[in-house]
Amino acid sequence: MIVGIGTDLANIERIQGTLDRFGDRFRNRVFTETEQRKAERRKDPADTYAKRWAAKEACSKALGTGLRMGIAWKDMAVSNLRTGQPVMEVTGWAKTRLEELTPKGYYAVIHVTLTDDHPWAQAFVVIEAIKRPEANGASK
Ligand SMILES: CC(C)(COP(=O)(O)OP(=O)(O)OC[C@H]1O[C@@H](n2cnc3c(N)ncnc32)[C@H](O)[C@@H]1OP(=O)(O)O)[C@@H](O)C(=O)NCCC(=O)NCCS
Repeated sequence: MIVGIGTDLANIERIQGTLDRFGDRFRNRVFTETEQRKAERRKDPADTYAKRWAAKEACSKALGTGLRMGIAWKDMAVSNLRTGQPVMEVTGWAKTRLEELTPKGYYAVIHVTLTDDHPWAQAFVVIEAIKRPEANGASK
């Protein structure tokens, strides 16, 4: 079953402006090392940062919290499989919130998809709760 959905559209030029103004303070507060590595080896790092920014906002919506001041942004982190497919990993407060959303006997899977087309970067997040096999009954 679906237990949460979230979407966000981020403006790449606004993210570029924040990077220009705050540099590493912004990078280190919001993005994990993996996210920074991915962005910094690309021609236009702001595109990649903007997609991940959108992913964090979308994830916070799917978790039902939204983003508040003082939030630990790095507790929602995007990495990529070898195929390029993005994966959202949650830790800390976001993991706690995910556990609260997940019914007993289920486990949660976070689906994320990203795209960008200058000046926009977009993310969708869907949180699915899947019944644990042992909860299906031994006869099945
Ligand atoms: C997936 C693909 C359609 C992306 O299309 P695009 O128009 O170049 O780019 P978009 O802006 O729409 O999307 C980019 C995002 O798609 C996502 N993506 C990339 N590969 C993906 C895949 N296999 N499955 C799902 N999502 C994927 C990523 O999140 C990427 O952003 P990120 O690299 O910053 O995380 C394109 O890269 C493709 O066809 N890839 C084929 C597979 C391939 O070449 N793999 C190489 C490694 S085996």
